[in-house]
Amino acid sequence: MTQLENHQIAESPNHIIAVVGAGQMGHGIAHAMLRAGHNVLLLDTSQAFVDAGTKRIIKGLARDVEKERLTEEQRQQAVTRLKTTTSAADLAPADFIIEAVTEKFDVKAGVLRSLEPHCRPETIFASNTSSISITRLAAATDRPGKFVGLHFFNPVPVMKLVEVVPGLQTSPETVEKAIALATSAGKTPVRVNDFPGFVSNRVLMPMINEAVFCLMEGVADAAGVDNVMKLGMNHPMGPLELADLIGLDVCQDIMMVLYESFHDSKYRPCPLLEKMVAAGWLGCKTQRGFYTYPRE
Ligand SMILES: NC(=O)c1ccc[n+]([C@@H]2O[C@H](COP(=O)([O-])OP(=O)(O)OC[C@H]3O[C@@H](n4cnc5c(N)ncnc54)[C@H](O)[C@@H]3O)[C@@H](O)[C@H]2O)c1
Repeated sequence: MTQLENHQIAESPNHIIAVVGAGQMGHGIAHAMLRAGHNVLLLDTSQAFVDAGTKRIIKGLARDVEKERLTEEQRQQAVTRLKTTTSAADLAPADFIIEAVTEKFDVKAGVLRSLEPHCRPETIFASNTSSISITRLAAATDRPGKFVGLHFFNPVPVMKLVEVVPGLQTSPETVEKAIALATSAGKTPVRVNDFPGFVSNRVLMPMINEAVFCLMEGVADAAGVDNVMKLGMNHPMGPLELADLIGLDVCQDIMMVLYESFHDSKYRPCPLLEKMVAAGWLGCKTQRGFYTYPRE
């Protein structure tokens, strides 16, 4: 890993992918893109956030060698293809920008607008939003035809699915390029229309929210709720374990998008979920959610 200098980037036949947000999803997307042979520019608001994301990428690439998904030489090459920055101007060479910042419309729209002056007109903007309207985000940018939803799943290097979500304005060529990018990273793209929560979170989040209601009302304890869903429904993880992995703040934000978009009270976030977020108990990333976790 090197700090970005003078827009110098290793020669590669592959794309230059800028990933904005080095958190849970951003670092995973960057990891998957590096593994696929792309050059990655990773941006976050502070060097500390960038460094934390980079540390996780380096660890993930080392694990790929242990598991024989990469050779040591490929790992070393991947590391040299990663550049990090806190300055939007450094994203100028990017072919794709994948935004993976906080799940709030105003934050995402602000970030996208701040990148526009630095990017070439042909650069495709993609959002990893879990639930926010791609049409609305696209309309907030200077390139609605070159804007698309690319919804990766957590942990990104492992999960096969990418929901590819065209907004009303997205051009067919942009959709094709987004599908090709997801495929190049070994993912299986599924094209989904632009409705709140798409398919994944329209189905998953109400289930997680209902599991939190079960816990709050004392129907069962956390392990009991999760065991019912694992042993009875054959889910690999229980909904509360999964909520901890996703991040309880992210779950709450997605429920709020569903609630406000459909104007239907069935999507109101469970008060216990809201209380835990207010306490800063966000799941794995803060070592405490429905369960506790050792520091990495
Ligand atoms: N967590 C999941 O399981 C999951 C799954 C699929 C999609 N998503 C979506 O991915 C996005 C990111 O979620 P996450 O879980 O990675 O969150 P996170 O909190 O782990 O990371 C968000 C990152 O964005 C950075 N950020 C915030 N504002 C920024 C700005 N103005 N410029 C640059 N960076 C900025 C933060 O510093 C942080 O590092 C959200 O839209 C979320 O809905 C999350």
